[in-house]
Amino acid sequence: MRTKQTIAVIGATGSMGWAIAKSLSKGNYRLLLFTRDKNRLKKLQKEIAVAYPGADVEPVTCSYTATWEADIIIVAVPFAAEKEVADKIREVANQKIVISIANPLNESYDGLITASDTSAAEELQKLLPNSKVIKAFNTTFAANFAQPVIDGKKVDAFIAGNDSDALETVSELVQTAGFNPVVAGDLSVSRILENMQLLLIRMGLKYNYNWLAGWKILHQ
Ligand SMILES: NC(=O)c1ccc[n+]([C@@H]2O[C@H](COP(=O)([O-])OP(=O)(O)OC[C@H]3O[C@@H](n4cnc5c(N)ncnc54)[C@H](OP(=O)(O)O)[C@@H]3O)[C@@H](O)[C@H]2O)c1
Repeated sequence: MRTKQTIAVIGATGSMGWAIAKSLSKGNYRLLLFTRDKNRLKKLQKEIAVAYPGADVEPVTCSYTATWEADIIIVAVPFAAEKEVADKIREVANQKIVISIANPLNESYDGLITASDTSAAEELQKLLPNSKVIKAFNTTFAANFAQPVIDGKKVDAFIAGNDSDALETVSELVQTAGFNPVVAGDLSVSRILENMQLLLIRMGLKYNYNWLAGWKILHQ
């Protein structure tokens, strides 16, 4: 078995941070959870301890310390907050894997606020030039984590990035969370992945999927 990796979740008590932290706590990881909401963090820790009594999970009081100690950092905050987070963690995120899960939606959920020649992931890479930014978990809804199998099929979770070792590491992590990892391409493919989730959100609202929807590539 390989050495246990340490994962920092920044924004651990948001919908996605909570779902990711809980689902990864069943794996061979040490999890460092950062949030500004200490009461919700206690609730999350309790929920994880009940579901996975052996989980290695610790609260951390600042994003800098969490990133300093981590091998992998999951930025589970809204797109608009990413610059503030990046400014805090930049110097300790050097050479580390940073996972971008953001969908840069506009306020009415019918478009993206990023220009067509970039993506939230590429913008995070510009903010953290010495980190290995990988796109993951943006095409999965928080509600999918409790049951990543829909209509009998394991939901695909697309991953994009420029570093092959980092893509492999993140694929393992996505698998631990219960999804089927699909490496879709380099980081610029995040533009497509973020638009795919925009489409799924719009269809979910139109057809009332109740957030229990996901992507599945059918192939031979
Ligand atoms: N919800 C989904 O199904 C879904 C699916 C795919 C991708 N995403 C993406 O996941 C990200 C999080 O979405 P969400 O739905 O989980 O949002 P959310 O429930 O509103 O949670 C956002 C989290 O970000 C933290 N946060 C906000 N501003 C911050 C700052 N300046 N510094 C540090 N932490 C900050 C909040 O922490 P505090 O509690 O400390 O305020 C909260 O824990 C977004 O980028 C979204 O596009 C969401």
